[in-house]
Amino acid sequence: MTTPSTSTVVRSARQGDVLCITIDNPPVNAISSAVRRGLKEAVEAADADAAVKAILIVGEGANFVAGADIREFGQAPQPPSLPEVCNRIEDCSKPVVAAIRGAALGGGLEIALGAHYRVALHDAKLGLPEVQLGLMPGAGGTVRAPRLAGAQAALELMLSGLHIKAKEALSLKLVGRLAEGEDALAAGLAYANELLAQGAGVRRTRDAQGLADRAAAQAAIDAARADTAKKSRGLFSPIKIVEAVQNNLDKPFEEAVKLEREAFLACIDSPQRAGLIHAFFAEREVAKVPEAKAAQPRALNSVGIVGGGTMGAGIAVSALDAGLPVVMVERDQVSIDRGRANVEKVYDGLVAKGRMTAEAKAAVMARYTGSTDYAAFADVDLVIEAVFEDLEVKKAVFKELDRVCKAGAVLATNTSYLDIDAIAASTSRAQDVVGLHFFSPANIMKLLEIVVPAKVSADVVATAFALAKRMKKVPVRAGVCDGFIGNRILAVYKQAADYIMEDGASPYEIDEAVRGFGYPMGPFQVTDLAGGDIGWATRKRRAATRDPKARYVEVADRVCERGWFGQKTGRGFYLYPQGARVGQSDPEVLAIVDAERQKKGIVPRKFTAEEIMRRYMAAMVNEGAKVVAEGIALRPLDVDVTFLYGYGFPRHRGGPMKYADTVGLAKILEDIRTFAQEDPLFWKPAPLLEKLVAEGKDFSSLNQPQG
Ligand code: 3HC
Ligand code: NAI
Repeated sequence: MTTPSTSTVVRSARQGDVLCITIDNPPVNAISSAVRRGLKEAVEAADADAAVKAILIVGEGANFVAGADIREFGQAPQPPSLPEVCNRIEDCSKPVVAAIRGAALGGGLEIALGAHYRVALHDAKLGLPEVQLGLMPGAGGTVRAPRLAGAQAALELMLSGLHIKAKEALSLKLVGRLAEGEDALAAGLAYANELLAQGAGVRRTRDAQGLADRAAAQAAIDAARADTAKKSRGLFSPIKIVEAVQNNLDKPFEEAVKLEREAFLACIDSPQRAGLIHAFFAEREVAKVPEAKAAQPRALNSVGIVGGGTMGAGIAVSALDAGLPVVMVERDQVSIDRGRANVEKVYDGLVAKGRMTAEAKAAVMARYTGSTDYAAFADVDLVIEAVFEDLEVKKAVFKELDRVCKAGAVLATNTSYLDIDAIAASTSRAQDVVGLHFFSPANIMKLLEIVVPAKVSADVVATAFALAKRMKKVPVRAGVCDGFIGNRILAVYKQAADYIMEDGASPYEIDEAVRGFGYPMGPFQVTDLAGGDIGWATRKRRAATRDPKARYVEVADRVCERGWFGQKTGRGFYLYPQGARVGQSDPEVLAIVDAERQKKGIVPRKFTAEEIMRRYMAAMVNEGAKVVAEGIALRPLDVDVTFLYGYGFPRHRGGPMKYADTVGLAKILEDIRTFAQEDPLFWKPAPLLEKLVAEGKDFSSLNQPQG
């Protein structure tokens, strides 16, 4: 008899000669300390039990094991460690089989690699995604995966963090066979019994020969090292992965395992790990909003779109890609022809790159209908308006929608800044009106701000979240205000950037500092990419209501007055000769900046990159705190996710609010108070920031789950 396990998350049961160990730790069988303990006990007991001839490890439910329990990182480590458990599995004197259904990721795959034989069901997803959390495999992944799959494939797996499917895992030799169906226990038992019948013995991964061709392995490692140095801009763990694979060639197995663990623990201690894991949980938490819990989404089987310009076309592609039929309405025949062409252009690009067949494109476009008649919306479940950013135009569109749409249809606007309460009031059904703020290009950008006006009903908000899920977007709930979460905060830190420019730093120095922080682009590059005319129009619209006492930097207006709108006109803040995508600095722009300084009597001073970022981030965080305090964002983490998915904020810093916690709120507040001595109107500390500092708390204390 097998000694019954005392674990509640790992159970053992004998089936004939095979002891089946089931990891049962919902929802995804993450490896908590209890799982490690239970698994080690179960394996040891089975090894010692003469009645057991082979051991099978499976996960309960739809997944094998999704990896180490991420929630335990940063806490005091509890024995046994995962490498110890994996080594104990591999050391077993009887064959050990792992049967993989669903996810075998990170530590989950490492457990499977510790086993002697692996079978994968067709839905299996294997991967070593630790790099996405600022980590590296820490329980034998860097030593066992290369021994099975070879250095190159293992490095690709670990450096990309991507999941692979069962078939690819078979071709990489990470698993030895595939099985049909959904029953991992049955597939594993069949395999184990077959192995016993064949008299197959233990087969340790440490003895596998994937690195036998040392020259090929070394070449793969050298190539990965060079590539990593180029691509992993400031990231801590990728190069450690490469070095860990190198250890396989230079050191004995045990030594390589030991060094892997040391490097893994150094990654655990890195602030990048904290930032990336915050991002992991935050992007799951954002979908947990009161309305989605309180109400069921409405039926959503078709989508209408008003306007086929930049945004309307991108949203149409998103909806088509989600499998929905799309009806698009434009002003006139010329515009609808252009709208259709805008949609087709996206698919033509995929066909040209060989990523889509012409037949597949035709099948998708068969779900698209264009019209100039609003009556085409009579049967759709949800309409998204993406016409010009003009309140009167939008109100007129919503009046039409109110007239033609069926009762219960959701009416959404993609406005960037306008008052959605006012748009809702132009209909007789304000309860059905919601904001769906997509980001450009809408078929690519993941962020979707779901803007919740005062009168909207909960099931409409729930429907918006359901749509986001279908479109594989990351939804963030936002309240109504000028610019919602993202654009409102952007307006403030962009202003801070303008002040820094006028006070002495060039736009190029500012962009460089922002890139040095981890952004892919600086704010002036973004302006050039989006088109300077858009911001110019907004500034002109707001000129009448601008506080005359507020500091206003005119450099961008001077640039736009010359017709320099950025990439599309060949110059903006940068020069783009012959359609270049990367801009060159422009002495004429610097002359404009100088002239503006002289006009205001500003004597330019030097800014270091660090000084630039302190101001840039203080402005962002301060406005973020105001947005949270006003309930525009539910929690600080909603601000973080907005910036990670909509504005290129470096993921390893977790988002602006997480970054502020890392720096310390007291320090940020002190900076704001210092800057306020120059410009008290702009640098007004957010009351929430002051309150948290006074209480010795940080933003994370406000990231409570929504009830
Ligand atoms: N630890 C703790 N919780 C986890 C977890 C983990 N490794 N993986 C997922 N969860 C939680 C999620 O937070 C979520 O919780 P919630 O319901 O309270 O929000 C729940 O499990 C379900 O997760 P998803 O919503 O993501 O479910 P999906 O079905 O969409 O995806 C998944 C499942 C593919 C397993 C996905 O959750 C995933 O990719 N998880 C992370 C996998 C990973 O990165 N593993 C490596 C960990 S590091 C490691 O193993 C170190 C080792 O080398 C020593
Ligand atoms: P666009 O100018 O490219 O497209 C607008 C389209 O609306 C045009 O094709 C026009 O013919 C059509 N249109 C105008 N009035 C109409 C009417 N009454 N009925 C039917 N169609 C009509 O504009 P863009 O950039 O697509 O912006 C649309 C909306 O999306 C705006 O509210 C904008 O603020 C918002 N938005 C824009 C983003 C961007 O980066 N461009 C990002 C997020 C939101």
